[in-house]
Parts: sequence; structure tokens; C-alpha cells
Amino acid sequence: MAIAPKPLVAGNWKMNGLRGSLETAMAIARGVDAGVRARSDVLICPPATVLHAMTSALIGTGVATGGQDCHASPSGAFTGDISAAMVADAGAAFVIVGHSERRTLHGETSADVKAKAEAALGAFLVPIICIGETLAEREAGRTIAVVKKQLRGSLPETATGAGVVIAYEPVWAIGTGKTPTAADVAEVHAEIRAELGRLLGKAEAAKVRVLYGGSVKPSNAAELMALPNVNGALVGGASLKAEDFLGIVRAI
Ligand code: 13P
Repeated sequence: MAIAPKPLVAGNWKMNGLRGSLETAMAIARGVDAGVRARSDVLICPPATVLHAMTSALIGTGVATGGQDCHASPSGAFTGDISAAMVADAGAAFVIVGHSERRTLHGETSADVKAKAEAALGAFLVPIICIGETLAEREAGRTIAVVKKQLRGSLPETATGAGVVIAYEPVWAIGTGKTPTAADVAEVHAEIRAELGRLLGKAEAAKVRVLYGGSVKPSNAAELMALPNVNGALVGGASLKAEDFLGIVRAI
């Protein structure tokens, strides 16, 4: 059996955080000691406005930073958008693409997400590609079909196993306090791994970190993170408080 990739615990701050919240990032960094670093990689994805300052503040701490989105084009007349090179220039190592809030609120399709992931790879960033079903899709028994289709549509052909991260985030579990059962999470992650095997080949698929996201908290992190094919977490609300985020980090 292939050795599981090193877990990644990523905080997605969404549209939260002014310069003063760099103190929260530093408090997180103080809790990421050698023991934590040996077990998992830790990442914070703050708003773009504080990305550079946070990256600078975190140098030498072992905590990486990431963007929350990028444009598919390298430059041009796209008012308000940020290119992958700009995210990288701000010091980030990762960038989230295809978060359900982007897919839903900004109408992004899997083809758009794929183009963004390709741009991220081109800028030497690791894209964290988000996929996940809505409540209606789950209730219609379509979870696996939806997740596989999003994965096939969003993953660049040039992806390598270590060069991308997949985040499974059921839309109905985001910010709701609800999570799927452990068995459901394990089933979806196994299907994602199998689909990655078909797309990348088995050896590369084994290297992909497949994160679970959606109402991860210190109280449920240990159970979720111990499941097969779960290689870390993408955390929203609980990543905004250092103690909660560290509670999740320490649960691995
Ligand atoms: P919550 O952890 O707040 O449910 O958000 C999950 C998420 O959307 C992370 O990207």
C-alpha cells in the first residue's frame, strides 16, 4: 500500500481579516511547534489584502500562506481580479480555486476552475481544487456522480499528484455545523481517490492530498482526519480563532 501523503490543515479566512488579524496568524504560528510540523503542514489563506504582510510575518514559522482565488489569465483588463502570478508574488505557495462560494455566487463552472488551476500551476502555486455536492444533489442520491464530474472537469491534464490538492466540501456542510457521517466522508474520499487513479494513474493519485472541509471543529477533527483517504482539512469559521484552529491542527 502507498504511504499516505503528509496531511495539510488549511484555514480559509474567506472575507474576514484586517491587518490587525495578523496577530491571529502569529498566535497560530506560535502553536505550530516541531511536533505539529512533523505530523502535518499548516496553511492560512487570508484575504488578498493581507496576503503579503502575513507571508512576511510568518517567514521561518513553518506556516504557509495561500490565496483564495485567482484569475485564469496572466494579466489584462479584469478589474478587481488577481492573477496567479500576483498571488505567488505576494508570497503564497497555494491558492484555493473553485470554492463552492465562487461556483455558486460567481457562477464559476468546472471549466473555469480548471483554467484557474492551470494558471496556478503555471505560477508554481499548488491549487486547492474544491468540489462538493449541494443538499438537493445529496438527497437525490447524486453525491458521487456530482463530485466525480466536478473532479474530472476541474483537474488540469498536467496535474501531478504532489502538485495539486483536492478539497471535498459538501456545500450543505459549509458554515452550518452539519457534517456527513464518517462513513459518508470515507465513501466519497475513496471514490475521489479512485477517480484520481483513473485520471492520473494510481501512483500519482496516491500522492494527492484530499482534504475534507465543511464544519470541521476541534471536537470532530480527530474522527474525520483519521478516516482513510482523508489527508487533512479545509477549515472556514474555526480557522479564524487561533485556539480553535490549533485544536484542529493538534487533532491530527
Ligand atoms: P466552515 O468550516 O466554516 O464550515 O467552512 C468550510 C469552508 O468553506 C472552507 O473552505
